[in-house]
Amino acid sequence: MPNVVVEVRDLAKAYGSTVAVDGVSFEVHEGEIFGLIGPNGAGKTTTLECLQGLRRADRGTVRVLGLDPRSDAMELRRRIGVQYQEAQLQKRIKVWEAVDLWASLYPSVVDPADLMARLGLESKRDAWFMTLSGGQKQRLFIALALIHEPDVVFLDELTTGLDPQARRAIWGLVTAIRDRGKTVFLTTHLMEEAERLCDRVGIIEHGRLIELGTPDELVGRHCPEHAVVFESDDAEIDGALEGLDDVTSTSAVGTTHTVHGVGPRFVTHVIQAIANQGVEVRNFRTETPTLEEVFLKLTGHGIRD
Ligand SMILES: Nc1ncnc2c1ncn2[C@@H]1O[C@H](COP(=O)(O)OP(=O)(O)OP(=O)(O)O)[C@@H](O)[C@H]1O
Ligand SMILES: [Mg+2]
Repeated sequence: MPNVVVEVRDLAKAYGSTVAVDGVSFEVHEGEIFGLIGPNGAGKTTTLECLQGLRRADRGTVRVLGLDPRSDAMELRRRIGVQYQEAQLQKRIKVWEAVDLWASLYPSVVDPADLMARLGLESKRDAWFMTLSGGQKQRLFIALALIHEPDVVFLDELTTGLDPQARRAIWGLVTAIRDRGKTVFLTTHLMEEAERLCDRVGIIEHGRLIELGTPDELVGRHCPEHAVVFESDDAEIDGALEGLDDVTSTSAVGTTHTVHGVGPRFVTHVIQAIANQGVEVRNFRTETPTLEEVFLKLTGHGIRD
């Protein structure tokens, strides 16, 4: 059994008449990257804030490293690292000053120079916060979250607004945190990010957890259909493919043929049928459903809020 690092049982939190979190339960295991994903206003930040002891839940229990985030706040603060959605610092604080200031808040910290090197911030050590790019600011916030070598790191939307290079660099940093044996709890809107980075994800909508599992499990559960796409001048091929047990549909637009199907042997059967028919095909490829398709299927396509 994996060690449970974060335990959430029937968590609920409302702001006046707005129900932000509505009876959520899940666990995060030691050494995993767990992603809470969901549309705008789904309750991700509120859940994180309850886990960090920043908000009092209306109902339910929350434990982080076995601690109650409200009554064991001091102890917990030493053992978790936090990067906030839309965090800011003073405009003219220098990178090294921010790292120094954060280091002064904890009884035991990692070597600041080593940390800045790990996050690629050495060349910016004397730069003012306001002169950093979005990606550099995020790297600084990750550095600040890691200064006291926490056991659990909470990252709220850490790559929103970053370009693909910066995003990938940050994915590497997050994976490195996990590889050092730490547990990472993150939220994101980017399904590609969740799929590549997270060992497990929970999907939250309207304050309720509607799915939980590895990205592969969720794709298998909700979008089991794969597609084979190829070009061929032979219109007869669709008829032959339709006869296969694992094919669910075929369609053709011009010379481009698309075959949908399910099951582990679907692609092999399509290849065999094409070979048996002696048909010439070009640009053969398979299309596998992604977490994004699962997300859209479960949460709809409309804009929230
Ligand atoms: N301080 C607050 N006062 C009143 N309502 C709030 C407050 N914070 C959040 N809410 C409301 O609670 C709900 C959940 O908000 P929350 O910030 O937890 O969502 P989120 O999933 O983090 O969204 P996003 O993806 O946009 O960051 C929303 O309807 C929001 O308007
Ligand atoms: Mg949020």
